[in-house]
Amino acid sequence: MHKKSLSSLAGKLIPAIGSMMFIMGLLFAYAFNKQHPEVGLFELFLYGGSFVVLISFFLCLILYFIVTKPLSYLVDAMNRLSKGDMEYRVDIKTKDEIGILSHSFNSMVDELQQYKEKMENWTRSLEEEVQKKTSEIYKAQEQLINTEKLASLGRMAAGVAHEINSPLTGIVTFAHLMLKRVPPGNAEDIEDLNVIISQAERCSTIIKGLLGFSRRTASEKTRVNLNTLVENTLNLVKNQSKFHNIAFDIQLVPALPEVVIDPNQVQQVFLNLLINAADAMEERGKITISSGMAEEEGIRFARLAFADTGPGISRENLGKIFEPFFTTKPAGKGTGLGLAVSYGIIEKHGGQIQVESEEGKGTTFFIKLPLA
Ligand SMILES: Nc1ncnc2c1ncn2[C@@H]1O[C@H](COP(=O)(O)OP(=O)(O)OP(=O)(O)O)[C@@H](O)[C@H]1O
Ligand SMILES: [Mg+2]
Repeated sequence: MHKKSLSSLAGKLIPAIGSMMFIMGLLFAYAFNKQHPEVGLFELFLYGGSFVVLISFFLCLILYFIVTKPLSYLVDAMNRLSKGDMEYRVDIKTKDEIGILSHSFNSMVDELQQYKEKMENWTRSLEEEVQKKTSEIYKAQEQLINTEKLASLGRMAAGVAHEINSPLTGIVTFAHLMLKRVPPGNAEDIEDLNVIISQAERCSTIIKGLLGFSRRTASEKTRVNLNTLVENTLNLVKNQSKFHNIAFDIQLVPALPEVVIDPNQVQQVFLNLLINAADAMEERGKITISSGMAEEEGIRFARLAFADTGPGISRENLGKIFEPFFTTKPAGKGTGLGLAVSYGIIEKHGGQIQVESEEGKGTTFFIKLPLA
């Protein structure tokens, strides 16, 4: 379109200039003939015409190099720009209007390019932000569902434990009484009664666990430094054969403020996590324990992380591990109460226990407890 209109402009200019030159040539020939009648009209027209043609040709050449060609560069650049090519610049550095036009064009493309880059960056960061927020919402939603589920399980566990506890105590008490009455020679009855007592006591232990999960156990709270509690727990487990082939990497921040907790209960949580890690790693690998601080909604927390190099937990199981009786261990090896109890204890302390795990890489449990 531009090219066409430019060439048509040139096409109109050139004949106009040519006609003007022709008329001027005729006038010149006429005047010359008046002064020099001896020169023939034919020669006059011949020389005059040649002169006009030559001048017109040079004028066209000048017009082409000064106007048409640079304009065609500009048109070409505009066409490229309209197709999205922002790298191309017009290389005309003359000081005339075309040079100024080219410079303005280049500046405009520079600005457009900057604007485009800004828009692209902005879109990219917006997309990242949306993605981040979506996964945060997804995580929070999952956690909320999990918390609700565990809370209702806790209420049920508390009810069941409470109802079963009294008859169980009766069974154990009366079995002991019967045991005392059985004549010493009646080995078979003694053995049966001992089975009743041991099985009932096993049930009792499970119920204690359930009560722990439902946060119905009493606790004695004192001011405790979590670093010291971690070190004490490590001293307890390090001598056990389960931990002999496990390396410990301990990264505790020196001045960790104290928390008000029941140290026995929280130590039980640490023990559960360490035993689970050792079991998951088949007693070989590395456990990293780190402590630090965190702040959420104006509340300051002490934060602990227990990371292992075990096989990790599948996505499917990740939402179930804090449920009472969820276990992947073979029958008789695990009751599935360790994490349920740990969850109950940490919740009762106003804290949070969370897990992050990647299959094949390992698992990390995070514990947050509000500072004293
Ligand atoms: N560090 C870990 N790595 C991989 N899986 C884990 C880890 N900790 C817990 N789990 C999974 O969570 C399940 C539940 O753990 P939990 O401590 O509640 O019960 P358990 O260890 O199976 O039995 P219990 O603790 O009662 O002896 C485990 O069976 C295991 O599948
Ligand atoms: Mg366990």
